[in-house]
Amino acid sequence: MAGAGAAAVLLAGGCGGQSTLDTHSRQSQEIASLFWWMLVAAGIVLVGALGLLAVGYRRRGRPGLPVIEQTKQINMWLVVTFGILLPLVALVAVFVVANFTVASITDAPAQGSTAMTIEVVGHQWFWEIRYPGTPAVTANELHIPARTRINVVLRSSDVIHSFWVPELNRKVDMIPGYPNRTLLYADQPGVYRGQCAELCGVQHANMAMRVVAQKPARFRRWLAGEAHPQAPPATATQRAGAQAFAANGCSSCHTIRGTPAHGTVGPDLTHLESRQTLAALTIPNTPAELRRWIQSPQQVKPGNKMPSVALSDAALTALVAYLDAGR
Ligand code: CUA
Repeated sequence: MAGAGAAAVLLAGGCGGQSTLDTHSRQSQEIASLFWWMLVAAGIVLVGALGLLAVGYRRRGRPGLPVIEQTKQINMWLVVTFGILLPLVALVAVFVVANFTVASITDAPAQGSTAMTIEVVGHQWFWEIRYPGTPAVTANELHIPARTRINVVLRSSDVIHSFWVPELNRKVDMIPGYPNRTLLYADQPGVYRGQCAELCGVQHANMAMRVVAQKPARFRRWLAGEAHPQAPPATATQRAGAQAFAANGCSSCHTIRGTPAHGTVGPDLTHLESRQTLAALTIPNTPAELRRWIQSPQQVKPGNKMPSVALSDAALTALVAYLDAGR
């Protein structure tokens, strides 16, 4: 039943693909077409080499070359052409196209040339997302307006991570103490999956994110909603949840804007109910999964920094009601 619910949530939310060949920006298109050109060229060489091998095998009893008459000079030119000239031309062409054309198109945008800046901070193992100029902070779900160039500043709070949304742009490392920048642009509204692309510890594989590109008006509404502090708990259960949150030390790691919780170790939990997944896309964000996550985080995502806190059943129910208040 929980599985069916999870599947429904994933379907309704759109899983968001992650294919380098399903391109949704000029940047990813350039990368994909470089890949196709290299694949075709390498394919021709492979077929040619296999063909020559086959010819050689069929003629294995006879001396000399097939088709052409053998002289020392022709042998020499064959070696020079196929062994030196062609590889040189191919490698220089790939170098020039990759390092000058594709690299400059997929590079960070010129300062001040984009409509907005978003900050993404890599943590073991989640993505903290900030919208400078607003109090909005979220995690693992990077909302952007579609058809808008976005400057993304990339930082790390611990080890080296790598920010990679293959359908939108290339990988860019997130290096502690050395902010990098990248350009994000989505040619249409949609959900694009991203994945940390630098081994950053045991849960590196479970460090994924979603880029949600929305129509600009919808994006502005979303951002205004995220910028609001959390509404005070409305029901007795939610109030009990707020108390359990404070009493069990949750606020030393998490922030909920509008409350005394200001921890910065784990994700900001303000408007947690608005997110599609928990633990950087490890599990869907449903009340049942949220409960399981709080109860045994080390079972769901072993090695993460969330401690297992012994909670009564009633306290768990109250916590879930509090965190899911806006659902
Ligand atoms: Cu972060 Cu791999």
